Amino acid sequence: MSDKTRSDSSTINPMTQAFLKDVLTGFSKTPKSLPPKWFYDDIGAKLFEDICELPEYYLTRTERKILESAAAEIVAALGEDTVLVEFGSGSMSKVRIILDQFTTPKEFVAVDISVEQLAEAAKEIESAYPGLRVFSIAADFTQPFDLPADLDASLRRCVFFPGSTIGNFNPQDAKALLAHMRTAAGPKGRLLIGFDLKKDAAVLEAAYDDAAGVTAAFNKNVLARINRELGGDVNLDAFEHVAFYNDADGRIEMHLKSVGTQSCSIDGHTFHFTDGESIHTENSYKYAIREFEQLAATAGFGLAETWTDSDGKFALLLFDVTNTG
Ligand code: AVJ
Repeated sequence: MSDKTRSDSSTINPMTQAFLKDVLTGFSKTPKSLPPKWFYDDIGAKLFEDICELPEYYLTRTERKILESAAAEIVAALGEDTVLVEFGSGSMSKVRIILDQFTTPKEFVAVDISVEQLAEAAKEIESAYPGLRVFSIAADFTQPFDLPADLDASLRRCVFFPGSTIGNFNPQDAKALLAHMRTAAGPKGRLLIGFDLKKDAAVLEAAYDDAAGVTAAFNKNVLARINRELGGDVNLDAFEHVAFYNDADGRIEMHLKSVGTQSCSIDGHTFHFTDGESIHTENSYKYAIREFEQLAATAGFGLAETWTDSDGKFALLLFDVTNTG
């Protein structure tokens, strides 16, 4: 490989360094895989926003509807003396639906890996809710992090984790993340979490393989990102987007399948693909309410309230920390 296309891994930033490490590791595995978190650079985040608007992708709009119709009940269940702690706060648009129902929203803790988005969204929410104390934590929420020391100790903490992001974690990792949320929630804490429900495979598959090809572009963007950020030479046209429901494991799987044999170079490493070989890029687990209730119980959460849409597509569950966890 020429020096022009090769990135010097000693001078690139930590994020790019971590991306390179995950790509080299994932492409060296059998079967090949990539962690889904690398979908979300600026282009990927924009493509995901487009996915949320697709007719086939019911998740986002369904959760929003549930939040809107349940917000008053949620706040009644939580009480005025609550601090919401959102894991992966993004644009902070969903939490507003709940904040709107408090007579006087007091404190909000936003945790997000994107420093830029965190700063921007925190500024916007601060000006929209005068009097609300907003704490921003720039952290990868899958790793333990400290809550702000000056939180009002008289408030009960409620971890907020919408968007079915929990679906990206295999059951073992989901359990670990829930246990970490239980710690963040504290002894009298709560968890308000949204996830996608099990349903007809055709409906699920359409949601991850839309007619307009937006999800295919979103999936392939991770390869484009390898070329952009890591100086790779992956031929995007020689990969095909594949999404299917794996019934045994209760998850949608997304893959990028090689059309024909090919090879690519990334940072001086060469990888070979056989015809039809795939890179496993994402799992999106689907749960029945009872299954999720059991999973959360293993992390020390007891089910308090359940909200779903009229078609039973998506669920928003409120849990209390139990003493037995
Ligand atoms: C952001 C993880 C909830 O699994 O539905 C959407 C990501 N992938 N279309 C999901 C995604 C393909 C999404 N989550």
